[in-house]
Amino acid sequence: METIDIQVEKQQQLIKKLQKRNNKLQRFYDEYQRVCRNEEERIKELNCLYQVARFVVIESNMDAALDKIVCIVPHGWQYTKDACARITFKENIYLSPGFFESKVCQSEKILIDNQAMGAIEVFYNPELASGSNDLFLIEERNLLKGIANIISSYVEKQRNDENTKLIHQQLLHADRLASIGQLAAGVAHELNEPLGNILGLAQLSLKLAKLPDQAKKDLGKIEDCVIYSREIIKKLMEFSRQSSLCKEKINLNELIDNSITFLEARCIKEGIEMLRQYTENITITADPNQIKQVITNLTINATQAMKNGGKLIISTRKDSKNAILSIEDTGIGISGENISKTFMPFFTTKDVGEGTGPGLSVVYGIIKNHNGDIKVSSEPGKGTIFEICLPLEEN
Ligand SMILES: Nc1ncnc2c1ncn2[C@@H]1O[C@H](COP(=O)(O)OP(=O)(O)O)[C@@H](O)[C@H]1O
Ligand SMILES: [Mg+2]
Repeated sequence: METIDIQVEKQQQLIKKLQKRNNKLQRFYDEYQRVCRNEEERIKELNCLYQVARFVVIESNMDAALDKIVCIVPHGWQYTKDACARITFKENIYLSPGFFESKVCQSEKILIDNQAMGAIEVFYNPELASGSNDLFLIEERNLLKGIANIISSYVEKQRNDENTKLIHQQLLHADRLASIGQLAAGVAHELNEPLGNILGLAQLSLKLAKLPDQAKKDLGKIEDCVIYSREIIKKLMEFSRQSSLCKEKINLNELIDNSITFLEARCIKEGIEMLRQYTENITITADPNQIKQVITNLTINATQAMKNGGKLIISTRKDSKNAILSIEDTGIGISGENISKTFMPFFTTKDVGEGTGPGLSVVYGIIKNHNGDIKVSSEPGKGTIFEICLPLEEN
């Protein structure tokens, strides 16, 4: 009897031992499963991060890149099928397929120059478990931060690339205009003298007695042609900054008002509303006649661009160094192809006789001669803005 009891006890102990071992194994197995799941999650997250990084490298179009990123984001989250994402950037919104909005959400700001310009958000189906935000893993929070940082860097890089391209274009343009200026100055100089001689001789000949009528007529035509040619040469010289300046202190707003009084009646007739937005007390040291030419030319061009009426906005402002004058119209605009040619001598898209005024090449020369700068921006069908910077009054 006693031996049986001992045997039962031994067996019970063995069972207990086995149970303990079994529990331990179960714990190991659970732990193993947990590690496997974690690893799976980390692989998903890394894969998602890798795809996001790849898109910003291969995609130079920002819209396309953000579109692709928003679609890949839910794949990096634990409950992919119950997740969706949204990126908002400036006025644009990008959504992953089957997007829904819910309270179970995680969000990161997209910072540009330390300012929030948008956000990236991940939403979970609210029916998922408790519907609480604890559903998001710490790693997922870090992942979202990482993606938001990648987007910020991408946007900043895009912006820098664009700026570099623009500066490069502007330099190239300035360079080309400078070469044309040199050539124009040379040609103008060489032609000015012989033309002066032709004019002088024609005028002397006209004074000869007993000149046949036909000869008088022809000499008159020669005189007109030479005067016309000298006008062109004057324009070329102004473009290449060969003309001298008579600088004085001028009140910019008053000068503008004086320059555009002649346009007021025309604007009313043609259904153009003229708006003046002036900052008071802007004094510059400049040649008033030349600046008047600039204003006249730009405002005439603007009215010519608004055959069906529109708005002509003339505004002045200043910063610490410059007076800034902008002339804006809501006219036909300038095509991308033509915009780089606008300051070239003799460039025009108008019919013979329609384009009046000294021309934008002269405007360019005058502004550069005043150590200023002129820029044009335009959207075909919407309008054009010419912005001029002139140094404020010199002490
Ligand atoms: N405000 C404007 N809106 C649209 N196009 C413009 C404007 N200003 C200038 N342009 C374009 O630039 C060209 C050159 O202008 P400009 O040198 O003044 O010569 P013109 O007026 O004699 O044609 C114009 O023919 C026109 O195509
Ligand atoms: Mg013109």
